[in-house]
Amino acid sequence: MTEHHKPERLLVTGGAGFIGCNFIHYWLDQHPHDHVVALDALTYAGNLASLEDARSRDNFHLVHGDICDTELVERLLRDHRIDTLVHFAAESHVDRSIHGPDAFIETNIVGTHSLLKAAKQVWLDDPGTATADHRFHHVSTDEVYGSLEPGDPAFAETTPYAPNSPYSASKAASDHLVRAYHHTYGLNVVTSNCSNNYGPYQFPEKLIPLVIINILHGKPLPIYGDGMNIRDWLYVDDHARGIELCIQQGQVGETYNIGGNEERTNIDIVRTLCTLLDARFQADASLAARFPDAPPANGQASDSLITYVKDRPGHDRRYAIDATKTEQTLGYQPVETFERGMEKTLDWYLANEPWWQAILSGEYTQWLEKHYA
Ligand code: NAD
Ligand code: TYD
Repeated sequence: MTEHHKPERLLVTGGAGFIGCNFIHYWLDQHPHDHVVALDALTYAGNLASLEDARSRDNFHLVHGDICDTELVERLLRDHRIDTLVHFAAESHVDRSIHGPDAFIETNIVGTHSLLKAAKQVWLDDPGTATADHRFHHVSTDEVYGSLEPGDPAFAETTPYAPNSPYSASKAASDHLVRAYHHTYGLNVVTSNCSNNYGPYQFPEKLIPLVIINILHGKPLPIYGDGMNIRDWLYVDDHARGIELCIQQGQVGETYNIGGNEERTNIDIVRTLCTLLDARFQADASLAARFPDAPPANGQASDSLITYVKDRPGHDRRYAIDATKTEQTLGYQPVETFERGMEKTLDWYLANEPWWQAILSGEYTQWLEKHYA
């Protein structure tokens, strides 16, 4: 059955994180009268500053809380008469999952199950609130499909799951739970599996912001292994656009791949950023004054900072998304080219230094501890 769903009242988990906040900006821009509630535990990766504009609106509410708190989620679904839950909240960094998998099991698996239980209770079980007009959109990753060799066909929705890191294994488990709640209980779920995102508001532990900020500070650019691992990069707004289509037109119980068709080696990404930043410094003399330790401030090339380091254990070699189903059934097409997306991202980090300086200096964490002790 083809479902057309018209969301008006959304609960967005993980709305203070990278993709969640970009999704909220996108959604409020496209649907300025919708009611949007963000639920976020404000872990190290959550940032209220990323939602500053949204927070001044009457139709946006931020709730500081944990997705594992099923009662809280039930209350939010009821009190705000939510018709659409968009689930981003997760522990998302592969390197952290290698050093401490427990938080990934708790948030990504137990937390997703908590949301499913709350959604089932409010949307299916309670006679006072049960409604067929509901949608649970689960945001997942291409990493659940495992690793490709050069020349292998890209991941399709039918590719068997083969997760290799504690992060991807926890996301795979959550995908299976979401599927089971549709097949067993009839919850209206849709799952999207997306490739690597980049863009504004990304926490500086991830490759692209890390490289930009390290160049500005004249710090080494750590390349894991031989730098030839491949990721399929997508500008974050194109992910938001894909999720919007899945929510409005996706068939319940189905999964949709979202990707950018922009496979790049890690070393290629790093060299592209080096070249772009060198050009920015050449065009704008004020950058050398702001960032005196950056190589181009001293007549050197940024790529002099490239440093090969020990590889990540179990490092997946290649990810690539085949988004044919999403393109053909939902009319999905990414809008941003890789070149323009990278320029926009770089310019955002140059124009928003206070956002990332607060993270680097720990100021934000201290502020958070004071306000949410
Ligand atoms: P992120 O780490 O930047 O943000 C995660 C957000 O979730 C943070 O705001 C954090 O405070 C919040 N959170 C964590 N635990 C929580 C809990 N228990 N309760 C409530 N909130 C909690 O992550 P991201 O990069 O924005 O990723 C968002 C989603 O998209 C994740 O589910 C991730 O698996 C998926 N995804 C990410 C990418 C990518 O390239 N970043 C690609 C595909 C899919
Ligand atoms: P990352 O941004 O952590 O995303 P993911 O592991 O989920 O794909 O890393 C992207 C790629 O960049 C990945 O192959 C690991 C590599 N990488 C480095 O080489 N150096 C770094 O410092 C980081 C953070 C990542």
